[in-house]
Amino acid sequence: MKVCVIGAGYVGLTSSAVIAELGHEVICVDKDETKINQLNSGLIPIYEPGLSELLNKNAERLSFSIDIEKAIKESSIIMIAVGTPSLPDGSTNLTYIYSVIEDLASSIESYKTIITKSTVPPGTNEMIDSMLSTKIKPSLFNVVSNPEFLREGTAVKDMLFPDKTLIGIKPSDKKSIDIMKKLYQGLEAPFIITTLTGAELTKYASNAFLAMKISFINEIARLCEAYDVDVMDVAKGIGTDPRIGSQFLRAGLGYGGSCFPKDVSSLHHTAQKKKVQTPILEAIQDINRTQVKEYISKLIKLVPELSAQKIAVLGISFKPDTDDIRYSKAIEVIEELAKIGCEIHAYDPIAFLPKGNLGHVIQGKDLDSVIKDAHCLFIATEWTEFSTIDWQKVKGLMSGNIIVDGRNCLNKENLEKMGFYYLGVGRG
Ligand code: UDX
Repeated sequence: MKVCVIGAGYVGLTSSAVIAELGHEVICVDKDETKINQLNSGLIPIYEPGLSELLNKNAERLSFSIDIEKAIKESSIIMIAVGTPSLPDGSTNLTYIYSVIEDLASSIESYKTIITKSTVPPGTNEMIDSMLSTKIKPSLFNVVSNPEFLREGTAVKDMLFPDKTLIGIKPSDKKSIDIMKKLYQGLEAPFIITTLTGAELTKYASNAFLAMKISFINEIARLCEAYDVDVMDVAKGIGTDPRIGSQFLRAGLGYGGSCFPKDVSSLHHTAQKKKVQTPILEAIQDINRTQVKEYISKLIKLVPELSAQKIAVLGISFKPDTDDIRYSKAIEVIEELAKIGCEIHAYDPIAFLPKGNLGHVIQGKDLDSVIKDAHCLFIATEWTEFSTIDWQKVKGLMSGNIIVDGRNCLNKENLEKMGFYYLGVGRG
């Protein structure tokens, strides 16, 4: 099949690579000419393990273009993978979706299956369907909601080995299931079929539930501190119950990234529009919003003259194995420490600090120079490189001995034996 993927971000590029891997011909389009030129010269504008290898392996079935109209005309499958960022009020910015609808309306001359891969608020696919129906013959298309469940850092693996293929269709649509089965032939995952809005709500509920697990364990961590209990023991204890599951129970600075913050606030906003009370969604956000400040205030209590100190912050990305800094809790840590006036030296294996004035913050090129003369070392992202550091060497480099383990990724007992003061999240 010939597939046009609209949007060359991490979802669009991962989808393009995997669909080409399944044997289809893919043309990935984007309005950003620089990005398209980079891709055509073999440069991948995002860091995603395994993506460039998969794109290169399938290069003969893959092309990149800015000519959206031509790509739509030539393809029978159109996959929408454009960004749907948050607006300040928590609602979702659908500007790029509306722009795609215009492109589709002006380009469709033969039957198309239009797949919405982007995460969009409940009701959006119905809106796409009705807007298009006023512009082109309804017999020329069907809209399918097919949300992705990719995690940054493992996006390729998550798409090649999904636990499900979630498909939302209109009840009157008798064509799309067979087409989707042909598209995803080769993936082992079971199809879960629901309505257009059912698929949208399932996607949001999935992310909100995962975010809830994180805020839940972070709230339990606060209780653990009050009772001098190690939250990692509690997480291990409850995680053995298959009804709970052991994943997403790591207490820390809270969740960041381009999805959880956006999706939880978007779902909350959607509920408000329908006048549905969602106290759990509010609590998830409240806990996540206060988590970093909780640990900065603990550090200030520990070091009253913090503003005069050099602090080494290890980690800038929102999680390991990605260069993505969107809604990164590490940057929130840096911003809070900068407000106090500390001298901050940050390090990350691949991510970079955002442009603009963050205050007295320097990004070091190597760990030693960042750690040297630091009064405190703050682990903000759990890169493997940080949990395998030579702590004897660190002891000799630092001027102080405080280790704040914002991701509970270090061995508390070993560090305390070596004379460090260890502050973790809910470590008792
Ligand atoms: C998430 C969902 O996992 C994925 O299914 C969805 O498609 C997109 O959003 P992603 O945002 O890439 O994926 O990262 P994820 O690995 O889920 O981590 C999200 C945030 O939660 C990170 O900031 C991470 O540090 C934090 N986290 C994760 C915790 O604080 N504790 C945990 O136990 C797990």
